[in-house]
Amino acid sequence: MELPLSNWVSAVSDTPKQPMTPTETSELRSFGRRRGRVLSPRQQRLLSDVLPAVRPQLTHPAPEQLGNLYNPPLSEVWLEIGFGGAEHLIWQAEHNPAIGMIGCEPFEDGVAKALIAVEERGLANVRLHPDDARDLLRWLPAASIARTFILFPDPWPKKRHAKRRLISPHLLGLLAEVMRPGAELRIGTDIGDYLRTILIAFQAEPRFCWRASGPADWRERPADWPATRYQQKAVREGRRCYYLSFHRVDGNG
Ligand SMILES: C[S@@+](CC[C@H](N)C(=O)[O-])C[C@H]1O[C@@H](n2cnc3c(N)ncnc32)[C@H](O)[C@@H]1O
Repeated sequence: MELPLSNWVSAVSDTPKQPMTPTETSELRSFGRRRGRVLSPRQQRLLSDVLPAVRPQLTHPAPEQLGNLYNPPLSEVWLEIGFGGAEHLIWQAEHNPAIGMIGCEPFEDGVAKALIAVEERGLANVRLHPDDARDLLRWLPAASIARTFILFPDPWPKKRHAKRRLISPHLLGLLAEVMRPGAELRIGTDIGDYLRTILIAFQAEPRFCWRASGPADWRERPADWPATRYQQKAVREGRRCYYLSFHRVDGNG
């Protein structure tokens, strides 16, 4: 039995707040720093020599068949937004060689980590957008993405920063355009208040549905969802993690 999303929203919050309007949440910077430690010579080489070859050129139109970004071309493309240390991105790329992965991450260290794995493991099915995912979403062809992952987005815990949270009705609107009917959108969080933000955002976007029928659907991490650095940190620090799976509905509503 599927419960309406509104039941879940009330289940996770005594007093659900009104969702922020898209204009309040759209396009505020949703990430922290872009640079961390000084890069090693190897990391610098990867960023200057290898990144240009795997970076989609947003100044040119996207290929009509998105799988043509890869050589050889691939028929299905999955997207990861905010891949951090790239643990999940690389795991999916290695376990699904027939799928093209696009990872978005503005933090340079994370991009360098992904590039090291791409080079060492010879992964031809990875493309990297080293910047804000929302620019890539506007570039992608309609209905071109078969799966999207947003794992442990920055929590922005202070009340005055909450409008920087990546997941909003605005972002879901962009995703609804580029995801195929039936495509899965996986989201992980370890912050109860962010869970509420997520469920309220989905309530406002009828092009996605949540098929959860009971707590086991969001308490247990699926076998094909490897642990990320932030998830491991949450578990170490005793926080419960929520593993959410939404689907792009057929048609436009
Ligand atoms: C809390 S970290 C989680 C990283 C990783 N997914 C994990 O679970 O370990 C969130 C990541 O999302 C990235 N991020 C935030 N806003 C983004 C955006 N608009 N586009 C792409 N990445 C973004 C941040 O740079 C950061 O690395």
